[in-house]
Amino acid sequence: MPNVTVFVNGARIQMPTGSVVAAALAAARAPARISLGGEPRGPLCGMGICCECRVTIDGQPHRLSCQVVCAEGMQVSTDEAGIL
Ligand code: FES
Repeated sequence: MPNVTVFVNGARIQMPTGSVVAAALAAARAPARISLGGEPRGPLCGMGICCECRVTIDGQPHRLSCQVVCAEGMQVSTDEAGIL
């Protein structure tokens, strides 16, 4: 199966073609964001409703990682990186 390379907080991650960005977050062991209480948060519903999976993708903030398919060279930044 062909792969695509994405970068999560600068870390190079190989994902099978067709994978969503939320899966790349799991592969990178990166939470999507940090709650106001300081807890790591990540994908919950997996269908675009809860917004717990939001990240910055190629400079666009608040993208729902569970709804975006990985593309070659995609740059993903999470709250962990201090971006959001
Ligand atoms: S996991 Fe709920 S919106 Fe993405």
